[in-house]
Amino acid sequence: MNSVRKKLIILSGAGISAESGLATFRDSGGLWEGYKVEDVATPEAWRKNPALVLEFYYQRRRNARTAIPNRGHEIIAELENYFDVTVITQNVDDLHERAGSSHVIHLHGSLFESRSTEDESLVYPIEGTELNLGDLCELGSQLRPNIVWFGEMVPMIEVAASWASQADFFVVVGTSLVVYPAAGLVNYVPFEAPKYVVDPNLPAVGNMPFVKMIEAKASIGLEKVKKDLVELL
Ligand code: APR
Repeated sequence: MNSVRKKLIILSGAGISAESGLATFRDSGGLWEGYKVEDVATPEAWRKNPALVLEFYYQRRRNARTAIPNRGHEIIAELENYFDVTVITQNVDDLHERAGSSHVIHLHGSLFESRSTEDESLVYPIEGTELNLGDLCELGSQLRPNIVWFGEMVPMIEVAASWASQADFFVVVGTSLVVYPAAGLVNYVPFEAPKYVVDPNLPAVGNMPFVKMIEAKASIGLEKVKKDLVELL
């Protein structure tokens, strides 16, 4: 095999974890039907009712801890046998890592980290499932989930855009592509790079060139993508 591997960039969203039993946000029965974004996922929510915010992420963390990676995550990890793979995920679970992916960029943070409300560079692992009022950073300020909330900057977006712009192949899986700046990453992908979109309810991608739309669940659709990509090598 060629010693310089081609770069395969994957942009994933909540749909990749759906077959592991984790709810998506905007499907019917999704998280945003049970909760209002502005009550649990904004800096204002944190100021108004931090206990409710912590409870929301406690539930997410508990579910994610017991979930196991599904075939979709596994296929993405297996693609490292053929490509230099970078996973850019909007997900805050760790199922890509647990399936074996070695280079994962979390655009929206992680359920398994807390950070200081005084100095955002102070980030700590959450070992179990709990983060509570009264849990303090080393400076003595309350810890919050290390999640990027609506209305906040996305610190990893430039790194992600740089990877997207170097893609030889690009795969979008399990995202409605309605949340920016993540959704805008598709615009950085080189014109001529083959692109795939896998989703049972295909999102709009505008007039993206060289794109194959695969209307299927991640476990089925990614199997097809893997076959196609390996043939293209
Ligand atoms: N396989 C693949 N895709 C699936 C599956 C599946 N088994 N089941 C559902 N999907 C698709 C849906 O059709 C939808 O297009 O996953 C997508 C989920 O979309 P959203 O719920 O909007 O999730 P996502 O795009 O990740 O949301 C982006 O919004 O609220 C936030 O911060 C949160 O990171 C999240 C961001």
